Amino acid sequence: MDKFIIEGGSVLTGTIPISGSKNAALPLMAASLLLDGTTKLTNIPDLVDIRTFCNVLRVTGAKVTYSAEEQSLLIDPENIYYPESPYDLVRKMRASFYMLGALLGRMGEAKVSLPGGCAWGPRPVDLHIEGLKALGASIELDKGYVLASRPAEGLKGGSFNLSPSSVGATVNLILASVLGSNTCVISNAAKEPDVVQLCYFLKQAGADIQGEGSSQITVKGVKQLNAVQFRNASDRIETGTFMILAAMHPLNKIKLTNADPEELGHFLSWFHKTGASTKIDKDIIEIIPPKIINAVSVATEVYPGFPTDLQAQWATLMTLANGESVVTDSIYSDRFSYVPELGRLGASVKVKNNSAIIKGPNKMAGTSIMSTDLRASVSLVMAAMFATGISQVLRVYHLDRGYERLEDKLNGVGASIRRVTEQHESE
Ligand code: UD1
Repeated sequence: MDKFIIEGGSVLTGTIPISGSKNAALPLMAASLLLDGTTKLTNIPDLVDIRTFCNVLRVTGAKVTYSAEEQSLLIDPENIYYPESPYDLVRKMRASFYMLGALLGRMGEAKVSLPGGCAWGPRPVDLHIEGLKALGASIELDKGYVLASRPAEGLKGGSFNLSPSSVGATVNLILASVLGSNTCVISNAAKEPDVVQLCYFLKQAGADIQGEGSSQITVKGVKQLNAVQFRNASDRIETGTFMILAAMHPLNKIKLTNADPEELGHFLSWFHKTGASTKIDKDIIEIIPPKIINAVSVATEVYPGFPTDLQAQWATLMTLANGESVVTDSIYSDRFSYVPELGRLGASVKVKNNSAIIKGPNKMAGTSIMSTDLRASVSLVMAAMFATGISQVLRVYHLDRGYERLEDKLNGVGASIRRVTEQHESE
């Protein structure tokens, strides 16, 4: 199991290229099963989650070829025959649950494992199931699996209101309804860029979808979709992560390239409240860090609000800010496993209900800390980079799920991070 040895105190200078988005790529990969012919996706990052999802697709009989060098993916579903996603794969990555909509849409039936719990508490899928039922699918639960089927001509159609709005459920409902002969209306649909991109992709393939990016999406079933070539978006969460990192030291001089500033939503306005400023030129974002970081409280919301995937990184920045701030997660209330680890570095952070209360500025000193999930892990790496002395961040496999070559990118701008593979680390 790999760990990072991090020497704190480096000033960061240089350019970091942003990779393709993981969360946007996964729905495209599932949707490729609905297209006739070989689809080519580009700007696909080399991440453990992408490789896991390639295997999820291969289980069905689809031909999947990933090139890390080209960052491209070829998906040909011509010989698809097996409408299942087994527990062993789904438990590794919840996005595998997108196979429910994709297999139902393509093959008319699906057997997909329920994803189960997650490091930050329950992440229900009831809306995915209720939504599919409302649109005309038959669904049964059996021994931890969802068994779904639909009439041969496609879902019967109808409308479903998502309460609360859910990215995952919106994606699944679109995937299930895009092939067919009826109309499905999703209200309170997710407006996240990942959903909008999925709709653009499907429309390029011949789908009839209206309203993407608004709270009502209308999908009129079509008979056939044809393979396309499509470039995946830049990772807005990686972009936000490195912007926060750049703001953590007044002498940092960081430029991000291949970014998509438009997709940051309202994050930019909170970022500027810290005293940081940005110079944006097309896909380049230059960050000018504040001399003194202002304490800025945030609460996560659906897009374009503050993303739940950036709250741990924000809390880490706030440990260096001047004053008290509160980081509230209204999407996932238990997502604070990183807080005790920040405490081990010397930060003053307490969790109350679904909020972290941070009293800054803190002086942190390097020690051993443990990664618990993807975004928590990157926050601990960031904290360790600004703590004095040496830190060990254990279990960095979480990071490899969602940050492409993190240590290479950060060492490239002056960080001191060494990856160590320990075969016999005790659990
Ligand atoms: C969420 C984030 C997404 C992020 C991902 C991984 C939001 C809106 N979504 O997506 O940006 O990339 O985590 O970190 O910020 N819910 C139900 N029943 C369901 C599905 C969801 O009650 O069937 C609830 C969830 O508990 C949550 C909210 O709806 O409170 C939003 O969930 P959803 O968008 O589906 O979560 P993810 O797809 O995991």
